[in-house]
Amino acid sequence: MHSSSVNCIRWENNRLVLLDQRHLPVEETYISCETAAEVAEAIKSMVVRGAPAIGICAAYGMALDALRLHGQSTALLTAAQEMLAASRPTAVNLFWALERIRRLLSQASEIDANLLIAEAHTIHSQDLQANLAMGESGARLLAETGPGNVITHCNTGSLATGGHGTALGVIRTGYAQDLVRHVYADETRPWLQGSRLTAWELHQDNIPVSLIADGAAAHLMKTKNIRWAIVGADRITRNGDVANKIGTYSLAVNARFHGVKFMVVAPTSTIDFAMESGESIPIEERSADELKHYREYPLAPSGVDGFNPVFDVTPAALIDAIVTEKGIVKCPAEQGMAALENR
Ligand code: MRU
Repeated sequence: MHSSSVNCIRWENNRLVLLDQRHLPVEETYISCETAAEVAEAIKSMVVRGAPAIGICAAYGMALDALRLHGQSTALLTAAQEMLAASRPTAVNLFWALERIRRLLSQASEIDANLLIAEAHTIHSQDLQANLAMGESGARLLAETGPGNVITHCNTGSLATGGHGTALGVIRTGYAQDLVRHVYADETRPWLQGSRLTAWELHQDNIPVSLIADGAAAHLMKTKNIRWAIVGADRITRNGDVANKIGTYSLAVNARFHGVKFMVVAPTSTIDFAMESGESIPIEERSADELKHYREYPLAPSGVDGFNPVFDVTPAALIDAIVTEKGIVKCPAEQGMAALENR
C-alpha cells in the first residue's frame, strides 16, 4: 500500500507541531503552536491547509486552550472557538470539528483538557481511517473503467488530511493496485498546491507524476488517455454541489466535454447537510498579492488590479461520483446525498 510517510500534524508534549507548508518544497520546517490563537493564525496564513487538516488542527487548537484553562468554566473557551471559526470560511470541516468539541463541552461545566485532547486525537485518526476506506472504494471505481492516466487538482494528500489523502488517497491506492498508470498534477495557481505539494508527495512515493499548467488540462484530456479527473472538496451541499480549489469547476467542464469521468473524494465531515445548494457556500477571497507575486518576486505590473477567489463550486450535474467513507454516491443529487446522512 502506498501511504506517504509525511506526518504534517503532530501532537508533541502538549504542543501542536505543524509542517510549515508555505516553505515546501524547498524547506521542511516545523512550527510549534501553544494556543488556539496561534493555530488560528497558522490556518489563516496557510502553514496548514486542506479541509480535513484544517478541521483536525482546529480541534487541537481547542485542546491547547483547554490545557491553559483546565478546571475552569467551559464558557471561557468560547473565545478560542470564535477565533478558530474566523480563520477560513469555505472548508466546512473546520466548523464540523468545532461543533464536535462544542457538543463535548456542553456536557460539563468545567473544562477537562484530557477529554478535548482525546477528542482531537479521535478526529485525527478517524480521518486517516476514512481516507484509507475511500482509497479502496475509489479504486473500485477506477477498476470499472480499467487502468489509465488520471488528472488531479490542488493538494489532497497527507499534507491536507490526517494521512493518505482523499483524492490523492484514491490515486495512491489505485497506483498500488496498478489501476493508475500516470498522474498529471495541475500546478494550481496561484498558491501552487499542485506543484509545491502534490508533486512533492507523489515524487516521495515514487508515483509517476507530471506537473502541468492548469490551462493544459483540456489538451491532455484530448491527447493523453485520461480516464478520470479526481479531486477533493472543501464543502459539499445537500444537492451534491462541490466547493473545491479554484479551477475545479473548469476541470469538470473540460472533463464532461471530453468524456473523462469526474470523481470527488471527501469524508462525510466535508458534507454540509444543512446547506441546500452550492449557491450559499461562502467563497474565500484572498489577497491579490498571491496572484501578483511569487514570494517577493513581482509577476504583474505594480499597481495593476487583481481578483483572487480561491474556491469555486462545481455543480452536481458535472460529477460522476462522490466517494465518502460511508459509500459512493453516483450522479449525486438530493436523494443519494440524503441516504448518506442516515448511514
Ligand atoms: O486553499 P487550500 O489549499 O486549503 O485548498 C485545499 C483544497 O481545495 C482541497 O482540494 C480540499 O481542501 C480537499 S483536501 C483533502
